[in-house]
Amino acid sequence: MSDPALHHPVLCCPTVEAIRACVAPWRQAGERIALVPTMGALHEGHLSLVRQARRQAERVVVSIFVNPIQFAPNEDFSSYPRQLQSDLDLLATFGIDAVFTPDAGVMYPAGFATSISMAGPAAAGLEDASRPVFFNGVATVVAKLLIQVAPDLAIFGEKDFQQLAVLKQLVLDLDLPVMVQSGPTMREADGLAMSSRNVYLSAAERALAPGLSRAMQAVKTGLAAGGTAQALIRTAETELEQAGFRIDYLVLRDATTLGEWHGHSEGRLLVAAWLGKTRLIDNIAIAPVDPDGQIKE
Ligand code: PAF
Repeated sequence: MSDPALHHPVLCCPTVEAIRACVAPWRQAGERIALVPTMGALHEGHLSLVRQARRQAERVVVSIFVNPIQFAPNEDFSSYPRQLQSDLDLLATFGIDAVFTPDAGVMYPAGFATSISMAGPAAAGLEDASRPVFFNGVATVVAKLLIQVAPDLAIFGEKDFQQLAVLKQLVLDLDLPVMVQSGPTMREADGLAMSSRNVYLSAAERALAPGLSRAMQAVKTGLAAGGTAQALIRTAETELEQAGFRIDYLVLRDATTLGEWHGHSEGRLLVAAWLGKTRLIDNIAIAPVDPDGQIKE
């Protein structure tokens, strides 16, 4: 059976040769190229990154690849939503210049033997604590995507805040000639951060899920009112647990280093919690505190 993606109005490049041939004339013409790396199952969060890319570059490439090496064996690689046809239909409405759609055989051909091993923000004790293979898998695939497409600009969502910090470190450490940009988290009307994994939630869990962003907002508001982080976080944890969440972490960190937050720099409140079989992550900015202890808004 022929691949329906090959007959789509959006230009699909399933191989490294094809994407390189596609971007070469753009590069030669001096056009600015942006890449939005994704694992597909596109939602408004991805689309806002695509719009951001459109505003800043003459050419926009979206990659769609569910990267097997960033999932541990007990994680959701096989059930991760895959909907290439509707993703392509959606991207066609955005005038995307090309979609890079490699399969696992293209990315990791037989004999593939390289892995990028990340420390620094990848070892902050957040996602890495419960997802041991995640950041090396992400770093390896993103390094490959950046080398394959060679964009001027690559855009990632702030919802995966630790991933963003890890990828900035990767690009810095490997001298990759690309600017990393981030786009803000998109939320449903009730505050739930958009995620391809939200489809796993049952109706009852979906009704509870916005509790996560409400709990974070309560910590933020409490800090602005002069409360102490430790007490506010403990209250939020108790409320989340009573509502049925199982918390992996709810912590306040320095927004740049992801190390300890001392109050006078930009902070970030980060959370990961389970509702049933679904693991949700989210984060919000926390403004620095004045020397007299007041949050600077
Ligand atoms: O955030 C994601 O969707 C993925 O981790 C990424 C960056 C596309 C790498 O597979």
